[in-house]
Amino acid sequence: MFDSIAIVGATGAVGRLIRQLLEERDFPYKKITFLASARSAGSTITFKGEEHTVVELKPEVFDDIDLAIGSTPDDTAEQFVPWAVERNCVVIDESGFWRMDPKVPLVVPEVNPEAVRDHQGIISSPNCSTTQMVLAMKPLHEAGKITRVIVSTYQATSGAGVKGQSDLIEGSKSFLAGDDYKYEAFAHPIAFNLIPQIGSHKEQGYTSEEMKMVYETQKIFGDDSIKVCPTCVRAPVSNCHSESILVETEKKITAEQARELFAATPGIKVIDDLDTSSYPMPKDCEGSDDTFIGRIREDLSCDNGIAFWCVSDNLRKGAATNAVQIAELLVREAATV
Ligand SMILES: NC(=O)c1ccc[n+]([C@@H]2O[C@H](COP(=O)([O-])OP(=O)(O)OC[C@H]3O[C@@H](n4cnc5c(N)ncnc54)[C@H](OP(=O)(O)O)[C@@H]3O)[C@@H](O)[C@H]2O)c1
Repeated sequence: MFDSIAIVGATGAVGRLIRQLLEERDFPYKKITFLASARSAGSTITFKGEEHTVVELKPEVFDDIDLAIGSTPDDTAEQFVPWAVERNCVVIDESGFWRMDPKVPLVVPEVNPEAVRDHQGIISSPNCSTTQMVLAMKPLHEAGKITRVIVSTYQATSGAGVKGQSDLIEGSKSFLAGDDYKYEAFAHPIAFNLIPQIGSHKEQGYTSEEMKMVYETQKIFGDDSIKVCPTCVRAPVSNCHSESILVETEKKITAEQARELFAATPGIKVIDDLDTSSYPMPKDCEGSDDTFIGRIREDLSCDNGIAFWCVSDNLRKGAATNAVQIAELLVREAATV
């Protein structure tokens, strides 16, 4: 049990949901602090019926905090995480900054819970597009060893934070009214459009978001031989990322076996009946902590391939839920020592 906990970035899109989840799941603590930048410091947040003042993020705030869940931009995480760790505060971090550090476990509790045991003060939560994919890969990897993944994402605007969410709404209104709109989170209009670039150009024509899906997947499974070819696309969907995933396995898995494996995996729900037009869609998955899978079929282009469609709430399982589940895992681990 952690006596004093904090949310860093409590005013952001993910931070708001972390607050909601701590309330919903009745996470144990004695004192809670909400941290953000100087811009929001002094504003108030109502949590469990009480008003709390948002505190500016500074090193000394961690003097009496035992556990911090951070959801800030990368450069803020780079700065504040060492402040916290130096003061013996454990940090669960949502940002991309610490994920590939060899000393930092990268954890999805349903996939590699054992990794938290090696933490040295920092635990990272993966990128949202990676989390739902590795959760779906886990039962197939155990049953048939995955050698290759081809994934195309259709990512919601909430993945770009509060500004991404408002860009879709305000941009759509302006488009329909025939007015100009200055997008803040995107380089191109997202209303009535698709943008086949998320993040910056990283290497060999792949973006930073795409390379996260490659490296984070290999780190989570502890297997650099899994080959991943991603294409990440921003879609005019407010919330919930969708992914078309194709996996190739060493051992043949039939579509029927894959359906059974998915259905037996905690955190996965199968919706899969083409004849009744039943499959997961972003509008139906919002607000759920589960990852939804449908359109399960054998790949017509190779012998040992399974193709499927995967949808998950990027703000929940892709971010806030995963971080809170890691915190719950730490509480359970501490209780068993
Ligand atoms: N959105 C998703 O689906 C998703 C999924 C997985 C991971 N993530 C990661 O989670 C992090 C947060 O994402 P988000 O979507 O919640 O972004 P967001 O809506 O823009 O929120 C960012 C939060 O960080 C705070 N912040 C910004 N600069 C700060 C500074 N210098 N000092 C202290 N606090 C600062 C903001 O506080 P102010 O209100 O004071 O500006 C706000 O609370 C990012 O690293 C993102 O990559 C997001």
